[in-house]
Order: sequence, then structure tokens, then C-alpha cells
Amino acid sequence: MKFELRKVTRRFGDRIAVNAVSVEIPQGQMVGVIGRSGAGKSTLLRMINRLQDPSSGSIHFGGIEVSSLKGAALRNWQRDCAMIFQQFNLVPRLDVLTNVLLGRLNHRSTVTSLLNIFSREERLMAIAALERLGIEQTALQRAGTLSGGQQQRVAIARALMQDPKMVLADEPIASLDPLNAKIVMDALRDINEREGITVITNLHTLDTARNYCERIIGMAAGHVVFDGPPQELTAAAVREIYGSDRDGAGIDETMTSTSIDISGAASPAGKPLSAGIEALATARA
Ligand SMILES: Nc1ncnc2c1ncn2[C@@H]1O[C@H](COP(=O)(O)OP(=O)(O)OP(=O)(O)O)[C@@H](O)[C@H]1O
Ligand SMILES: [Mg+2]
Repeated sequence: MKFELRKVTRRFGDRIAVNAVSVEIPQGQMVGVIGRSGAGKSTLLRMINRLQDPSSGSIHFGGIEVSSLKGAALRNWQRDCAMIFQQFNLVPRLDVLTNVLLGRLNHRSTVTSLLNIFSREERLMAIAALERLGIEQTALQRAGTLSGGQQQRVAIARALMQDPKMVLADEPIASLDPLNAKIVMDALRDINEREGITVITNLHTLDTARNYCERIIGMAAGHVVFDGPPQELTAAAVREIYGSDRDGAGIDETMTSTSIDISGAASPAGKPLSAGIEALATARA
């Protein structure tokens, strides 16, 4: 099923955060959205999930007009497109398992939700999701006591519990160290490849977008100024997205690097990390 934005605009007062964006995304793509701070990346994701409404234009998924959904249909849509945030948005005082189970809430009636009863099947599903992300040993720990990387993996497990068609991730690795950033991006790639879930992720680092995304959308001042595969993202395209600095020297790609690089030497796009680092990255705590 195809997802589509048609001339979507969002204004805040007289400021235009997203300006007439039209994009078509086939089911199963892994899309990175890049751009300077204030370019409109978060606003774009929030409109897709309907946390914010467009000022004009429309959003479509298959035959559904997402931008006009209300009530239960809107809640179903929000269940279908799970959000992942930079700050994880877990409930820190609740244990990890309960946080993951919260992803099921939209699948349940209000009464069973209020009673806070989760079935054995749902609990098993939650544990399986935690196992898949390599953090099942934290199930009974309070979410707030986990490291950032572990918390983001809990958030991904919670998203999986929603059985989503799409995962929207807003700077999912911006608060993480390089090793955890790799683990989290690998997890997003895995659900994209194995379940065919569309992933749209805002990233503030170009090398991550190049490494993980088959399609990159570059935004500047609310407009889409680039839309294509990473290999078409030339230095000129990067300058158009990020702009030039005052000397007109342009932006150097290393300035926007996440540096998943741990060895001290840059890891060129697409090149696998060394076996040692790979082992570390996949090791379970
Ligand atoms: N709720 C709001 N009220 C007023 N202005 C807003 C609001 N949300 C966003 N904006 C403005 O819209 C523009 C786009 O913001 P947005 O958060 O989408 O950018 P971004 O690309 O996600 O930036 P960053 O990389 O810093 O997260 C900015 O100028 C911002 O100040
Ligand atoms: Mg943002």
C-alpha cells in the first residue's frame, strides 16, 4: 500500500514549517529525512502520525485519507504508525515489560485497559519483542534505570507491539553514543527488512542516512530540496540541503557525522565495521 503526502503545508502563525510537500512512499521503504535544525523534519513526521494537523494539503494511505480521520479511525491510524522519539518517551517508574505492553493499549477495549490486565499471550509477545532486541534480561527493571540505548530498544519493542505498518522515528539516535546508535539503527533496519514495515526516520547525521536508508529526503526551510537514493546525494545536493557557511566554503560531510566510527578512522558509507566492533555492537549486556 502506498503512502502519500499531497501539497502538505503547516503554518505556525506566519511561519511556514512545512511548505507544500508532496511525497509518495511505497510500503516497505526505509526513508531518511535530513536537513538543518528548523527545516521542518519533526513537523512533517508529526503530521503523518496526526500529532499535528496540516494547515492545508492531504495525507493518504491506500484508499484512506489520513488527514481527515477522526475518533476511532484516527486512533487506529496512530496505532498503525508507531512513533519513536529522541528522548524515548517511556514511563520511567514502570518496569520495562509494562512499558512494552503499553504498545498494546490501542488494541484493547477501554475496560480491559482500565483494569490494566494483560493476557498471558500479550506478555509472551512482549518478552519475545524484548528478546529480539537483546534486552529481555531488563524486563522487570524500572525503565528509568536503563541506559539510553537500552531505553530506545524498549521503545522499539513497544512500537513492535502495536503491530504497525509504519514506524516514524524522530532523531532516534541523537542522544546515544556511537555503539548504541548502531544497535538502534540496526534494529530499525531489521524490522524494515524482516516485517516490511515502512520506516521514516529523521536523522541529523548524513552518514547514518547514507548507511541505512535506501531513500533520502532532504528538507530546507520547509521544502523538499532533495529526494533520491544516497548515491545521488552529491556535494552540491548536500550544500542545497544544509546551506553554506558564511565563508561560502560549504558544509563538510564530516561536520554532520554521527561517527559510528569508534576506531578513530572514518567508516566510509556502506562499509561494514571491523569484526571486533561488530561483535561488541551485537554483544548482549
Ligand atoms: N508548536 C510550534 N509552534 C510554533 N512554531 C513551531 C512549532 N513547532 C515547530 N515550529 C517551527 O516550525 C519550524 C520547523 O520546526 P521542526 O521542529 O519541524 O524542525 P526540525 O527540522 O525538526 O528541527 P530540529 O532539527 O531542530 O529538530 C521551526 O521554525 C520551528 O520553530
Ligand atoms: Mg526535529
